[in-house]
Amino acid sequence: MSVIGRAWDRRVLPWLVEKACRSTTILAERKRWVPQAAGEVLELGVGSGLNLAFYDPAQARAVVGIDPSPELLVQARSRAEAAAVPVELVEAAAERLPFDADRFDSALVSYTLCSVADPAAALAEVRRVLRPGAPLYFVEHGRSDRPRVRAWQARVTPVWRRIGGNCHLDRDIAQLLRDAGFALTTLEEGHVEGGGRLTSYTYQGVAISP
Ligand SMILES: C[S@@+](CC[C@H](N)C(=O)[O-])C[C@H]1O[C@@H](n2cnc3c(N)ncnc32)[C@H](O)[C@@H]1O
Repeated sequence: MSVIGRAWDRRVLPWLVEKACRSTTILAERKRWVPQAAGEVLELGVGSGLNLAFYDPAQARAVVGIDPSPELLVQARSRAEAAAVPVELVEAAAERLPFDADRFDSALVSYTLCSVADPAAALAEVRRVLRPGAPLYFVEHGRSDRPRVRAWQARVTPVWRRIGGNCHLDRDIAQLLRDAGFALTTLEEGHVEGGGRLTSYTYQGVAISP
């Protein structure tokens, strides 16, 4: 990666991620899904920690948040300290989770499966560290059901991912979860209010680890 690319990823991208992830629509999604996570929870791509305020101490015993970005983990630190549940932040990629098998009671991922380098490997790792039957709560943007939007998502993604921390506009999140062996017990798909057409198709729900 070039010097400019590295500077972008270290200085501009964390600011962009924080800004993009603070919309009122996304806030409502966080308030809806995060409090459902129970027991010891793994959060993938914890980023700057915007979900941490919404864990419910009556449900979640502790949260382990992983992210490969040291810059975002620094931003997450104060939110981890302010959370109502104990939070541990770990620098790691979802594709190689530094945890024993069957450790976690639930997992949560928001706006991250678009960006991981290898979603199949990441989801296989989530399966490994979740105990059998445990839920993965997901809120993700991805491939639209509208052919014209879909075509534009495919056209724009090669440029978008270069400036957006590898964010893909056109991943079919439901299919990725199914391909990884999860059973989707709740799935809501569709364009949501706010944001551009290319980024507003979301997949939200609960995927059960086999
Ligand atoms: C758009 S941000 C979302 C952050 C946070 N989940 C939220 O909802 O605010 C995407 C996140 O995915 C993280 N990410 C990128 N590649 C990853 C990987 N291989 N494993 C885990 N997280 C990754 C980024 O560092 C970033 O924090």
